[in-house]
Amino acid sequence: MKVLGIETSCDDTAISIIEKDGARVRVLANITHSQIEAHRPYGGVFPTLAKREHAKNLVPALDEALLRAEMNVSGTTEVPEELKTILAREPELLIALSAWLASHQKPEIDQIAVTKGPGLEPALWVGINCARALSRVWGIPVVPVNHMEGHVLISLLSPCGDDVYKLDEPRYPALSLLVSGGHTEILLSEKKGFYSRVGKTRDDAVGECFDKTARLMGLPYPGGPEISRLAHEARVQNLTSPIHLPRPMMMSGDLDMSFSGLKTAVRYGIESHGTLSDDARKGLAREIEDAITDVLIAKLSMAHERYAYDSLVVGGGVTANAFLRSALKTFAEERGISLYVPRIDHSTDNALMIAIAGSLHTGTTSDLVADGTLSIA
Ligand code: KG4
Ligand code: ZN
Repeated sequence: MKVLGIETSCDDTAISIIEKDGARVRVLANITHSQIEAHRPYGGVFPTLAKREHAKNLVPALDEALLRAEMNVSGTTEVPEELKTILAREPELLIALSAWLASHQKPEIDQIAVTKGPGLEPALWVGINCARALSRVWGIPVVPVNHMEGHVLISLLSPCGDDVYKLDEPRYPALSLLVSGGHTEILLSEKKGFYSRVGKTRDDAVGECFDKTARLMGLPYPGGPEISRLAHEARVQNLTSPIHLPRPMMMSGDLDMSFSGLKTAVRYGIESHGTLSDDARKGLAREIEDAITDVLIAKLSMAHERYAYDSLVVGGGVTANAFLRSALKTFAEERGISLYVPRIDHSTDNALMIAIAGSLHTGTTSDLVADGTLSIA
């Protein structure tokens, strides 16, 4: 089965095409147009700008993905009037997509998977409406996908050749730790495909905490990779922080978390310390990484005492963080837990994870619009 994945939940416009045969996944194309440069002047993601950028980038990304997959065939296709209704809220996309569709043949795709949520609503709708339009013209189903499930599933890929992967089956019970720019949660799975949330942040997500503290330190958006880079230098040079940070809710006795206090502590710390030297900034970056990692490992440890999980699956953009990855590896090895982490370049948002999640589910176009909501419980 060949699946086209579409991801537009935040600031990446992404299209992927996979061929799935049982547990075997061949990646035919995986295109991501990052909007980071466009959002950088705002210090974060600006939703209406994200919507505009997705509308502009989707057709070029689709064209490029089909080229990579050797499925980009010129020809004529009749574009129904109904497309105007489906894309009524996306006038720019309507023009670009209608022209592209009219001059290309239907590719050999069996199903479309699109991120239904969670994410920024204006941004999500561009991808959803694009999927609905393609589904109507090509006459194939579209499956709504939960972005966070995508982050979980892509961590289960193990390479077995050029662009070929196997989707591993973790031993159950499995625990998933999701750490992204918008979400931080701990999910327990007693069996495949079922997730119950057993912990979450009460305020900021981990990625958000990295981004906000980085901003306070005058670092560009997104702050996670910047903090990570400075923290690494601090470790190599053995630099410590002039500001000590708390480990919020580390001993709360439950699996909930809170990260907004770190941002406040960094703000007050910088105010009372005064201008930071380069070495002090590196030390502070290290302290931020340490504080976040200490809390996450403490929660995973408590969850292990509680649920004795056999597998730990981690996903989301923050799993690109090398220090967190090595702490997770040590934690899992010490307890004999099987650890699943995504490839670094699969950590942040992409459409491959959406195509994979979609290939495991069935759904209908009406699921996307029936109740007018985007979130999946
Ligand atoms: O999963 P993702 O791409 O988007 C959301 O679904 O939110 O995650 C983006 C987040 C950003 O907050 C970014 O700063 C963080 O992942 N991130 C990192 C690193 N790379 C990306 N955080 C810490 N260290 C990194 N190396
Ligand atoms: Zn994400």
